Amino acid sequence: MNYNKKTVRDVEVTGKKVLLRCDFNVPMAKDGSGVITDDKRIRAALPTIQYLLEQNAAVIACSHMGKPQPSFEKWVQKQTEKGKDPASLTEEKWKKSLAELSLKPVAQRLGELLGKDVSMADDVVGADAQAKAAALQPGQILLLENTRFEKGETKNDPALAKAMANMAELYVSDAFGAVHRAHASTAGVAEYLPAVSGFLIQKELDFIGGALANPKRPLVAILGGSKVSSKIGVINNLLEIADTIIIGGGMAYTFSAAQGGKVGNSLLETDWMDYSLEMVAKAKAKGVKLLLPVDTVCADKFAPDANSQIVAAGEIPDGWEGLDIGPKTVELYCAAVQDAGTVIWNGPMGVFEFPAFAKGTEAVAEALSKTDAITIIGGGDSAAAVQQLGYANKMTHISTGGGASLEFMEGKELPGVACLLDA
Ligand code: 3PG
Repeated sequence: MNYNKKTVRDVEVTGKKVLLRCDFNVPMAKDGSGVITDDKRIRAALPTIQYLLEQNAAVIACSHMGKPQPSFEKWVQKQTEKGKDPASLTEEKWKKSLAELSLKPVAQRLGELLGKDVSMADDVVGADAQAKAAALQPGQILLLENTRFEKGETKNDPALAKAMANMAELYVSDAFGAVHRAHASTAGVAEYLPAVSGFLIQKELDFIGGALANPKRPLVAILGGSKVSSKIGVINNLLEIADTIIIGGGMAYTFSAAQGGKVGNSLLETDWMDYSLEMVAKAKAKGVKLLLPVDTVCADKFAPDANSQIVAAGEIPDGWEGLDIGPKTVELYCAAVQDAGTVIWNGPMGVFEFPAFAKGTEAVAEALSKTDAITIIGGGDSAAAVQQLGYANKMTHISTGGGASLEFMEGKELPGVACLLDA
């Protein structure tokens, strides 16, 4: 895939109506109060928005939020599948579920951050959006409602893409977190308008793309998280690129069991044991160092207050489960990071949400904060861990995309990037 894309700086934006796709899918308080609990993604879009407004473009911003069901019937079906009593599922409740995914709180936060009024449309391509977009003046910004309120969004419906495109003269995408989705607002719209990237996408492509295509070596990839099955593509792709691959988190127990280790009640994906052996063999054949845990912190239950003990990897007693890498593993992994030229990290080393089992993840984060290597943190859990542990400002780059950064590291084509004009 070509990562060298035209950006907002390569085209004339002054006086133009610009449709700007952002990823404003921010976490909201669970009580339906509309409180944004982390505005990182809104802040990450500011440089592009500010640039466009300073250049006197009229900015029509849009984004998805959550996974709303745009049809009542489909919503009833999904809720019933989840075990809800169909008799309790009223149209009023469905509308409430949509209202909780409105972008209105985002418009307000964005306005506060920009220090400027952000007008909000009641719909995506309906009468209100059309009227407000038509009246929008250079230097002003409008936010459309949640793009997933439209049935055609996730289906990449050309009619919806065209209707969005008709409101503007240029499409700018800065929604890195959604570039792995081929939806109407992330890819389809680029069929009808000249399409360029914003500064956030450019930054993500430069750092992640740079680390994959032309890394400062040695390239060390740290892969954790609970399941081997969710990281197959990444392991496969990085085995072609990295010098060292470090495995931690729940998925290490599948590797251990496949090699004849005892894993007690630890997370285990029996269907992926053969695959993990294949990966060990592939690493050997390619001369990639594959590091697996040599010891484990195991617990007598999955709970923050569980009793714990440190055992050698593959010797977890019956009734116990591994929840973190052990101290010898920490030493081994931190040494590998120290000499790296580039480190890519995706997935925690243990159950870092429980302080007693966060030491492995914390030690790796600390090692990354001290190394001279370029440090790139995939979005999602690893980004949350680095933030929670207070090392965020010590990393070279923390991706704003969870699924998107994972698919990028898998070497997959990203539809929201492929649709942009090449530089
Ligand atoms: C994310 O949160 O990873 C992005 O906003 C994409 O959201 P999605 O998984 O609902 O498409």
